[in-house]
Amino acid sequence: MDVAKVALVGFGTIGSGVARLLLEHPERIARQAGRPVRLVRVVDPDLRRARNMTLPGGMLTGDLQSVLADREVAAVVQLIGGLEPERSIMLRVLESGKDVVTANKALLAEHGVELFDRARQLGRSIAFEAAVAGGIPIIAAISECLTANQVESVRGILNGTSNFILSEMGQRGSSYSESVSEAQRRGYAEADPTLDVDGTDAAQKLAILAHLAFGARINWRDIPRTGIDVVELADIRYAAELGYHVKLLATAELGGDGLELHVSPTLVRQGTPLAEVRGAFNAVRVVGDAVGPVFFHGQGAGQMPTASAVVADLIDTVVGRTAITFRTLRLWSAEGGSAVATCDPARVPGRYYLRFRVNDRPGVLAEIAGILGSNQISIASVIQHEASEEGDELVPLVIMTHSAPEGALRTAMQAIDRLPCVHTGSVRMRVRD
Ligand code: HSE
Repeated sequence: MDVAKVALVGFGTIGSGVARLLLEHPERIARQAGRPVRLVRVVDPDLRRARNMTLPGGMLTGDLQSVLADREVAAVVQLIGGLEPERSIMLRVLESGKDVVTANKALLAEHGVELFDRARQLGRSIAFEAAVAGGIPIIAAISECLTANQVESVRGILNGTSNFILSEMGQRGSSYSESVSEAQRRGYAEADPTLDVDGTDAAQKLAILAHLAFGARINWRDIPRTGIDVVELADIRYAAELGYHVKLLATAELGGDGLELHVSPTLVRQGTPLAEVRGAFNAVRVVGDAVGPVFFHGQGAGQMPTASAVVADLIDTVVGRTAITFRTLRLWSAEGGSAVATCDPARVPGRYYLRFRVNDRPGVLAEIAGILGSNQISIASVIQHEASEEGDELVPLVIMTHSAPEGALRTAMQAIDRLPCVHTGSVRMRVRD
């Protein structure tokens, strides 16, 4: 039986997980692929660093060219982070006649059109299940299993680091900065956690999902995003008092006015599946017109969950399934426009959680309520505790609204923030029931 020879570029955490699956479970993989899949080369510039996996002698090399020149290598798994040299390496791999498997969502979000068009010209494929939500098979679900549907909505917890930090704050009562430090200690957050906590990582993943689910040609930078770095422990506590958990939700919803897209900290009703996703886990809820709601939950990062998705892609590539999906789906292309327009966020209705820091004196609530009322925003509930957490002068005032367009909320908040009795630091978060 023909052996499928494959190579790995990048022998870091995920790379060693992939090597482990390929080398420790060859029978399982051969059974799924219909033929043996043999890892023949692992390319990494660092030949000395200790990994939790030892390769057979001679397999690790710093010489990428030796892989590109080996005509017997049919597919290359590329597991290097960043945009360059990853982009150039991917182009060289494709041009050397090999299919690619990648986990690099930033690269696809940034250079997807160029890389996918080049792969198509060359008759090659790029598989990327591990790029979104790690071990959860959400790419296959949307691009293969749910294709009979018009997808109506995709909502996800797509950044495990943010979810871990919010869970720590909620469950342990730790501050934001203590929770970030704990995420770093456990290896979830980078030394510089900016891309996780400011919503960039989730927006890049959402752009990929929106492309697959709705044919939306959206640049991730155009997705309105707010990260969890604006969330304070007080908000988590008020949310709990109101019956919600705060989650960083990535949302793509099809409405009459087009596609609504955003990444934002959101109050999600306790007891609903997304609200109960804890720790570093990811989850995605997809609604299709035929299937109704479907829910996916699992580990969105980490060595073996990500390696699970990568190796499944590799098996699909070796079998030829990836090539068929890749050809038929016309993912990322300079040709053709977006299948759907994005809607004006100002017109999208929603419920909101508002927190203001106000002077504790008569008439303040009436002034704020008056501005909300004049913008046609109805108040659903109000919390003001007697004991101030901020000293005698200022008290927090929390308001839950009924549904109102985001534009009206923005206008009202600007007017409220100009009131002399309202101090800096107002907070506005969406609510999902
Ligand atoms: N850093 C991401 C997360 C995983 O925390 O979910 C890689 O995209």
